[in-house]
Amino acid sequence: MKIGITFGTFDVFHYGHLRILERSKELCDKLIVGVSSDELNFSKKGKFPIYNYEERSKIIGSLKVVDEVFKEENLELKAEYIKQFNASVLIMGDDWEGKFDWVKEHCNVDVIYLPRTPSISTTAIIEKIRN
Ligand code: CTP
Repeated sequence: MKIGITFGTFDVFHYGHLRILERSKELCDKLIVGVSSDELNFSKKGKFPIYNYEERSKIIGSLKVVDEVFKEENLELKAEYIKQFNASVLIMGDDWEGKFDWVKEHCNVDVIYLPRTPSISTTAIIEKIRN
């Protein structure tokens, strides 16, 4: 069985999130999603997500293309998570293009960057609502 793994915040769930998860599932039999913790988001972006981890992980876990969700607590632990879940493919949005190539040899996995869905992001939605 081919196990795929991907990561993200998935705050204010939107169509771009759904599409990357659907396309990720096409590349594997079992899709594992690392949803970042609230604290990780704070350290990464200097703000907490609109929806907390419990809410975001419940939304992601309810999708039929997602088989398992876990909490990503540290950006530096990608390789450990890959090994822990026995993944053979790491899928990332192409905003991360090239950044995880080192994992290929380190964990003996394929790394695939999928194009982002154009013209939508959590940040843009929040800005739109705010204005
Ligand atoms: N993603 C995508 N297409 C978009 C937006 C996001 O494919 N239009 C993908 C990202 O590449 C990532 C995953 O969805 O693999 C989760 O992205 P996340 O950063 O949580 O969403 P963004 O909308 O990019 O959030 P932000 O605006 O806060 O950066």
